[in-house]
Amino acid sequence: MKTYLVTFSPTGTSRKVGEAVARGISETYELIDLTRPRPAEKEISADSVVIISLPVYGGHAARPALERMKNIRARSGAKGVALVVYGNRDYENALTELGVAMRGAGFAVVAGGAFIGEHSYSCARYPIASGRPDRSDLGQALRVGRAIGEKLATGKVAEVELERIERPADPPEATRRFKSGAAKILAASQAPRTPTADESRCIRCGRCTAVCPTEAIAGGDECHTDADRCIRCCACVKACPARARSYDSPFAPLLFLNFSARKPNRTLL
Ligand SMILES: Cc1cc2nc3c(=O)[nH]c(=O)nc-3n(C[C@H](O)[C@H](O)[C@H](O)COP(=O)(O)O)c2cc1C
Repeated sequence: MKTYLVTFSPTGTSRKVGEAVARGISETYELIDLTRPRPAEKEISADSVVIISLPVYGGHAARPALERMKNIRARSGAKGVALVVYGNRDYENALTELGVAMRGAGFAVVAGGAFIGEHSYSCARYPIASGRPDRSDLGQALRVGRAIGEKLATGKVAEVELERIERPADPPEATRRFKSGAAKILAASQAPRTPTADESRCIRCGRCTAVCPTEAIAGGDECHTDADRCIRCCACVKACPARARSYDSPFAPLLFLNFSARKPNRTLL
């Protein structure tokens, strides 16, 4: 059986979780990285298992990931593992959407999971799930991969209902505070449309251009970000070696205040 990891992962957490699950299934696997634009078309053979791991944006499966997944088709019989990675708030519709997209591409979805990753907006002042997935998370992901591999080896695998995975339970007042704060931010259009770049710090290394998943930063013009292309994923902020880029999200204090308690990963197979 051939194993693939398909991921869209601007700040690397979805990829780390997916890699651990893939390694649990098989020592060798092929990576299909959808983080770069315009991925090649790919047909997956029937005797394959494909892990798809992507982030949650606004309670949905990251839109560019679903778009880029359209280049992947599975032959009948190929198995899929659906993974979403979220920043310690909630994943809402994301796992269901990923499941629908995977079944649409021809996969039988035999396992799934919702894992925690450091929030893209996490910073020193407002850490949100900082450092996750950590050793314990990745150990869990590896064990889940092993269990999937063992199950596949028996030949007796059934499709799973991803909706059976428990959603995070937050105190109702935390959810209420977050929702009303978020509504105010959105109504006042307070969220900056792009990260800012400090010209005096920028060393023109081009790292931001290289990691941007939507080609919003042109090489040679690194201190300008195209607001129409930017998805505010913070890949450029986290990758900048000179700390020249920052994204001061008004959501960060709200998330920090209401969703700092460690949440468990949830899986189903
Ligand atoms: C635009 C945007 C929206 C996000 N929305 C959510 C959300 O609704 N719930 C949540 O818990 N985390 C949310 N996050 C955090 C990401 O899901 C989380 O940081 C994830 O680990 C990022 O994955 P990556 O490292 O593969 O890019 C959001 C991040 C961004 C950039």
